[in-house]
Amino acid sequence: MAKIIELDKIGMSFEKKVGLLQPNKRIDVLRDINLDIAEGQIVAVVGESGCGKTTIGKIITGLMKPTEGELRFGGKNLYGFSLNVFSRTREQVQFVQQDSYAALNPVLTIRQSLSAPISHHYKNYSAADTEKKINEIMSFVGLTPPEQFLSKYPHMLSGGQRQRILMARAISLEPKLIVADEPVSMIDVSMRLSILNLMNKLNEMLGISFVYITHDLATAKYIARNGNICVMYLGEIVEFGSVEAVLRSPKHPYTQALIAAVPVPDPKAAKQGRDIPIKSMEITSLENRSKGCVFYDRCPYAEEKCRNKIEDTLVDGVRVKCCKIGELPEWTN
Ligand SMILES: Nc1ncnc2c1ncn2[C@@H]1O[C@H](COP(=O)(O)OP(=O)(O)O)[C@@H](O)[C@H]1O
Ligand SMILES: [Mg+2]
Repeated sequence: MAKIIELDKIGMSFEKKVGLLQPNKRIDVLRDINLDIAEGQIVAVVGESGCGKTTIGKIITGLMKPTEGELRFGGKNLYGFSLNVFSRTREQVQFVQQDSYAALNPVLTIRQSLSAPISHHYKNYSAADTEKKINEIMSFVGLTPPEQFLSKYPHMLSGGQRQRILMARAISLEPKLIVADEPVSMIDVSMRLSILNLMNKLNEMLGISFVYITHDLATAKYIARNGNICVMYLGEIVEFGSVEAVLRSPKHPYTQALIAAVPVPDPKAAKQGRDIPIKSMEITSLENRSKGCVFYDRCPYAEEKCRNKIEDTLVDGVRVKCCKIGELPEWTN
């Protein structure tokens, strides 16, 4: 499968104001991020709040320029393109943000919100062509009949319907990749599955690749069941591989802790379940994390060598950022 996007040793740091008289502090948010996304692939990015998921999403969609590393689109450095090519390339990667209310202009009707990018992109479209395209994408995302929604304003729709409008707007420019940042975390639980199914449908029928960002392992497992998962902790990817392999046999102690934390409804099964004795409940902040393993402060297996810079290890096709692979207890589900 051809690669659409490659993140090669991407790093991102921000300036933080400390005080009036002190110099600003630089905080490394992302460190050494390597990630490829191929045509038609679904990649779930999982990690707790504040670990840098949205920042990765913004870098992939070209909304934020990384401070280190290279972002390649179709094999070429995105930031080496001329402005014209850069903006055309960016249209092929769409970002669907978490807050559907904030993403839509409240004073525009749904028709106006959808038609603007279409008429901007397809310069030769007549008004009738645009309307036809709008109807087509509305039906595709399950908002039928479209007339029932097009004259409405965002506040008149439910969270689930607005999220579908965002998906419609994202597919209107026929992108190769959609980055969906926690698209179901703000909508009613009863609607979540149908939005996840919609993304799977867009992937299967239109061949659009997805980066699905979430803090919830269960939805990641569902949507990327045939794809890859990328487990993040404090700004680094600690484990990356196929969902099937990572969940069956998680290798990084953080991934193991994440899987062990999912509640099991059957008490018998829960008894057999594992518990990872996390050393500290305190989550280290990005500012205070060590130069070595990001999980050092909490990992039950940590030792002196974990304080050094950690390189990736490839085990059974899964990439793990842990220097104790082979020394840890086996874990197979
Ligand atoms: N524009 C910015 N300026 C300064 N710090 C930022 C900026 N964007 C994100 N951060 C910081 O980067 C860290 C990761 O943020 P984010 O990518 O939003 O995490 P997540 O989406 O996983 O919750 C946070 O500590 C956040 O405060
Ligand atoms: Mg976020």
